[in-house]
Amino acid sequence: MAIDRKDTVPIPNPKGEVFSLTLFGKKRIFISSQKLMEEICDEKRFGKLVSAALGELRNGIHDGLFTAQNDEENWGLAHRILVPAFGPLNITGMFDDMKDIASQLVLKWARYGNDYVIPTTDDFTRLTLDTLALCAMNYRFNSFYSDEMHPFISSMVSFLKLGGDRSRRAAFMAPFYRADDAQFFADIEYMRTLSQEIIDKRVQHPEDTKDLLNAMLYGKDPRSGKSLSQGTIIDNLITFLIAGHETSSGALSFLFYYLVKNPEAYRKAQAEVDEVIGTESIQVHALQKLPYITACLRETLRLQPTAPAFSTTPLSPQGEVIGGKYSVEHGQPIAALLSQIHLDPAVYGSDAEEFKPERMLDEAFKHLPPGAWKPFGNGARGCIGFPFAWQEIMMVTAMLLQYFDFAPQDQSYRLQIKSTLTIKPKDFFMRATLREGWT
Ligand code: HEM
Repeated sequence: MAIDRKDTVPIPNPKGEVFSLTLFGKKRIFISSQKLMEEICDEKRFGKLVSAALGELRNGIHDGLFTAQNDEENWGLAHRILVPAFGPLNITGMFDDMKDIASQLVLKWARYGNDYVIPTTDDFTRLTLDTLALCAMNYRFNSFYSDEMHPFISSMVSFLKLGGDRSRRAAFMAPFYRADDAQFFADIEYMRTLSQEIIDKRVQHPEDTKDLLNAMLYGKDPRSGKSLSQGTIIDNLITFLIAGHETSSGALSFLFYYLVKNPEAYRKAQAEVDEVIGTESIQVHALQKLPYITACLRETLRLQPTAPAFSTTPLSPQGEVIGGKYSVEHGQPIAALLSQIHLDPAVYGSDAEEFKPERMLDEAFKHLPPGAWKPFGNGARGCIGFPFAWQEIMMVTAMLLQYFDFAPQDQSYRLQIKSTLTIKPKDFFMRATLREGWT
């Protein structure tokens, strides 16, 4: 599209459906309506931009899938090799491993009994990390068998925190943060060394499994016939753990928050589990028969998109005009604020802030306008782990509702949010009582 700047107006500051802010010397544009979201999701005009905290992670995971710039060759290579590994058949094949880890969580809560104050987000993080490590590289962190986190997990948490800190400080401050920087690079070194050891072990002792590591070691790009280098395999092994653990554990934590705070929704979700699964051991095909829980999860991710924003930029060197009047330069970040877009009253009405799973049942969901629900990002750069996360969260939710009755530890708890690269509920604790029939 030809760009005529004479018809453009300055982007307003500081708030509205589009606004701009200068943060740490860089101008960023923010959008918060479904209409603008629809526009910037046009992959012919806009592409992903990696900057700020995500850019810092490139020190450790380079051009891995999540942190690659749009035009980097390794992204296309890894994407084409890995898409089949995240296909329905493969993800279904991971069900038993996912259930193995979920059963460890059920056992822990059952043994501790209803006096135990469940650290909701911490326990769900143990679950999602252990599940990812098992399904990605057949490795067990055994987080439910120890109070201490596995050193890989401590390094990853520290790497993410320090990466965020580094992105927020001006270059001239660097000499004051030498110890932090040394820790940041030590974390990277540790994660990469352990990943290399896991790869070496697999190469020396091949395993007949359909995990992501095998897909990366033996997969060939259908276009070029090339394979992934060992460095790229390490980048992506760490990427899966980073991209997939907090997003999924945050989603589970928010989902349980909304369920225990909305007794009617809770009752319907549990009744659905009782009707479809009863006291049988859950099987993968049952997950297709849980429309109400599906709607609860969609509604949770609408209200609390655990990856709360992503950035794009105009592809054309001439830039673009958005909303018919705002001019954006090539390379200038446009941050899509999902937590605002998902509340757009033009789409969701005046009760947009309320948890109402009914609005996300299949019939209504498929009629949502484009851009109205984007918790998994957009197009080719959207979440490759979406089917993995969905299967895991649906299975864990169904299993937990099957075994336990839940209540908030403090009935008066009001939702507070902890934000890093992702969002999660802060200080949200629950209690779980085994249901009749399991005691
Ligand atoms: C990308 C959300 C789970 C791996 C993304 C993006 C979002 C997202 C919004 C796009 C980011 C951007 O454009 O900058 C979520 C949510 C999840 C989840 C809400 C859970 C509820 C997972 C899991 C995995 C994963 C379980 C791994 C198994 C990735 C990767 C990318 C990505 C590798 C980059 C894809 C690419 O650019 O090619 N995710 N994610 N995610 N996600 Fe997820």
